[in-house]
Amino acid sequence: MKNGSNQNWDSYYSENRDFSLMTSQALTKVLAHVDARLEKICLDLGCGTGQLTRELFHRGYTCVGVDLAESALRTAKSLTVQASSLTYIRGDLETLQSTDLPRRQFSLITCKLVIAFVKDKERFLKLAHDSLAPGGTFAVVTPVFGSKICEKKPGICVSSEEIEKQLGDRFGNVTVEPLGDVECFISHRQS
Ligand SMILES: C[S@@+](CC[C@H](N)C(=O)[O-])C[C@H]1O[C@@H](n2cnc3c(N)ncnc32)[C@H](O)[C@@H]1O
Repeated sequence: MKNGSNQNWDSYYSENRDFSLMTSQALTKVLAHVDARLEKICLDLGCGTGQLTRELFHRGYTCVGVDLAESALRTAKSLTVQASSLTYIRGDLETLQSTDLPRRQFSLITCKLVIAFVKDKERFLKLAHDSLAPGGTFAVVTPVFGSKICEKKPGICVSSEEIEKQLGDRFGNVTVEPLGDVECFISHRQS
């Protein structure tokens, strides 16, 4: 994937290709950072074919997945049991507004293998922050520069220092959870 243009994503998914799954153990590690007292409502930004969205749904979350690639959303919907607690919407993360979302306050927002493709990160982090319930968790899963993945695919990686600073500036806190080949940067909206 050379760049994040919508056309490229659509043709990628049209060839029945997909991205690496998050293991169940890795997801459990991420979920340990979520306040269990909050209602289980998740927003998966850049959900692709909904691999993570579905996993969260099966763990009891009401989920909303957002992606721009129609072919990915078609697959996500075809793999979805008819349930009002699992919905997908088409949206551009560069322009998406909280009013485009069916819910205002999510207890968990995930963003897996996506942040490297977001051009306006400041705006994106503000959207995530403002869409969280107080005490809610934002989990950014991404490969970083200097990692094994970066040797082969630098275009999908971000600077660890930069993302930590951006999250720290917006949320006032950030924790890094190593998940094997990728890192999970976790921030909470202040209560
Ligand atoms: C590497 S894939 C990861 C997909 C999914 N999160 C996963 O881990 O399987 C990146 C995803 O981000 C989506 N994406 C990239 N830029 C986007 C944008 N501006 N708005 C919405 N989705 C975008 C792509 O369509 C693609 O599905």
